Amino acid sequence: MKQDLKSYYDERANEYDKVYLNPKEQEDLEQATKIFQNLFLNKTVLEFACGTGYWTERIGKTAKSIYATDINKSVIKIAEERRKLSNITYEVADMYDFESENKYEGFFGGFIWSHIKIQDLDEFMVNLKKMIKPKGKLAFIDSNPSKGTNHCLKRIVKTDDFGNTYQERKVENGNKYLVLKNFPNYGFICEKLSKIAIKIEIVQTKYYWIAIGEIKN
Ligand SMILES: C[S@@+](CC[C@H](N)C(=O)[O-])C[C@H]1O[C@@H](n2cnc3c(N)ncnc32)[C@H](O)[C@@H]1O
Repeated sequence: MKQDLKSYYDERANEYDKVYLNPKEQEDLEQATKIFQNLFLNKTVLEFACGTGYWTERIGKTAKSIYATDINKSVIKIAEERRKLSNITYEVADMYDFESENKYEGFFGGFIWSHIKIQDLDEFMVNLKKMIKPKGKLAFIDSNPSKGTNHCLKRIVKTDDFGNTYQERKVENGNKYLVLKNFPNYGFICEKLSKIAIKIEIVQTKYYWIAIGEIKN
């Protein structure tokens, strides 16, 4: 079984948007959208791992601009094709190897925290802070280990020595992947975010956790 996050999402590009079609999750998605649209109102926003642009389009409605990046060309192509807003720029980029001369007023990461290895989170946060202005806003959204979601806790098939958890997932073409999917508790999320942010709040909806904060000076 392959263990390659980039290839997994590349192969899933055309089926990915189905994750947003579950009628039961629509209320949570609306709630999250409102939180992000308020948080990033009139701000220049950097987004990592934007995928097909589901959140980019929503955040772009109120943000000043959004620079949305993903490692896979295939998902960026889909996002570009459905782009309705002129304040969005999509680029292919690896978030672990991203440098920017610009400093943004906000950062957004949708369903990517769970795919970052526990032992890489501190470095990830330190790099992120370099790209966001002091007092800039940040937000992450990710999955709760609830029963209803596709990618819940019960599908974990492996835990490594660092405590990272992995699920077996099948792409529609039949290929199987071992996918890193962590379900951090709220204390852990706050601990990691507090390295770079203050005013941290965690909002729990039925299906997701949403963490917001303000970048330290
Ligand atoms: C669960 S999807 C989330 C997509 C989108 N943010 C959303 O919420 O709908 C994870 C995304 O992370 C991207 N990705 C994986 N590794 C990455 C990396 N090192 N740098 C940037 N993007 C990456 C994948 O291509 C995929 O689009």
